[in-house]
Amino acid sequence: MRSPFFCAIDTTDPDRAASLAEVAAAAGGGIKIGKEFFTRHGPEGVRRLCSGGEAPLFLDLKFHDIPNTVAGAVRAALALAPAILNVHAAGGRAMLNAAREAVETAGADRPKLIAVTVLTSLDADDLSEIGLAGPVETRTLALARLTRACGLDGVVCSPREIAPLRAALGPDFLLVVPGVRPAGAALGDQKRVMTPGEALRAGADHLVVGRPISAAEDPAAAARAIAAELAEAAA
Ligand code: C5P
Repeated sequence: MRSPFFCAIDTTDPDRAASLAEVAAAAGGGIKIGKEFFTRHGPEGVRRLCSGGEAPLFLDLKFHDIPNTVAGAVRAALALAPAILNVHAAGGRAMLNAAREAVETAGADRPKLIAVTVLTSLDADDLSEIGLAGPVETRTLALARLTRACGLDGVVCSPREIAPLRAALGPDFLLVVPGVRPAGAALGDQKRVMTPGEALRAGADHLVVGRPISAAEDPAAAARAIAAELAEAAA
């Protein structure tokens, strides 16, 4: 049975990546590949990692460039048949529309296209320093609304944003949520966390889980426990 979590493959080590991908797939989850692995191993590396089976791929490359370039990058990414891919909402309306049009060329099997709003590593002071005044929440909501207006499928958001975004954007907008921690797991650098079950009950559609699996003593058991917790929360 599929589980709505993606395991973050945050490594350049191909053996470690392969073992994490196997663990995620065995627990019914998907795999999320970001700039670290992709920049080292490229599309061929991604293909090798996904060749084993059914695990859906979230290609987390967060494209952000002029519309023409982003559209080309999205079309190139389609060759990897990701289930989800993403761009930065701050690229603006024309770039979001170009990305959506590019994804639509894949037809019925098209991936879900989601956007990053405000990186969770930025606070109001960081935004103000780059000339963007105002609360983070206001900006996040504005970017999420723009994302939906451009016909994208959803956004990446932190656990604390699930409820306000779900309320503002309705039930059909995908909320993909990193920063979850099973009860008792180390927080690492994530500050505002929820357990996987809490995040799902709060309205998340997919969860991104990294260190709670990759740094666990027994990653396979950790992944199975997360899948079980999610199955219970969904029941
Ligand atoms: O190890 P951890 O569970 O914190 O990993 C979370 C994953 O989600 C990492 O791949 C990280 O880059 C990603 N992510 C995040 N916060 C965001 C967006 C992505 O932690 N706002």
